[in-house]
Amino acid sequence: MKAWMVEFFWSYTEFLVFIHVLSAVVWVGGMIAMRFAAHYSFQELEPAQRLPRTAQALGNLFKIVAPFIVILIVTAVLMAVGWGFRAAAVDADGNVIDAAAFTVYQFVHLKEAIWLVMALNYGYMVWRLVKAKKSIALGDMPAAKVMLGMIGKYLVPLNILLGVTAIYLGVVLRYSHA
Ligand code: HEM
Repeated sequence: MKAWMVEFFWSYTEFLVFIHVLSAVVWVGGMIAMRFAAHYSFQELEPAQRLPRTAQALGNLFKIVAPFIVILIVTAVLMAVGWGFRAAAVDADGNVIDAAAFTVYQFVHLKEAIWLVMALNYGYMVWRLVKAKKSIALGDMPAAKVMLGMIGKYLVPLNILLGVTAIYLGVVLRYSHA
């Protein structure tokens, strides 16, 4: 399995890095556009229009980013195995063989943790959106507002922050190997 992954990675290196970066652009960029461009535009509408519009736009964004979340983790695993961050850091028994390479290897773990939190947060936002859409269909705007409000106020900004951190760590990893 590992040998196959390494071979696959080296056959398509440029393409894999390209779709990893593209996925980050779509996911993080999409959230930034939604939070800092669309959100303020929706704020100008009356609640009866604002909430359905916001729910619709969020639903569209979530559908667009879903495949890129999967592509991000698949390409990430291929890059992590392909470049051999673990092999450079520890031996077969798990003993550290190079302190600097071990630090870099920890950044790979950190990015994996960030991806996991972002993906869980995404799932939670989808769940809240589904609830909000149900409330809108029943005409219960206050309940829909509660469900959507937290997405805009905390959950999307949290994922933007985590995403930007992951992009920075990507640059660190990029310059940690030849
Ligand atoms: C799942 C865990 C992840 C791992 C193991 C991982 C791993 C990597 C690695 C090894 C690189 C270096 C590529 C190279 O050397 O050319 C990289 C680059 C990059 N990563 Fe990730 N990544 C992960 C998640 C993410 C996430 C969640 C984002 C953003 C949402 C992201 C955005 C980027 C970007 C923009 C680059 C390009 C940096 C550059 O070329 O200077 N990554 N990533």
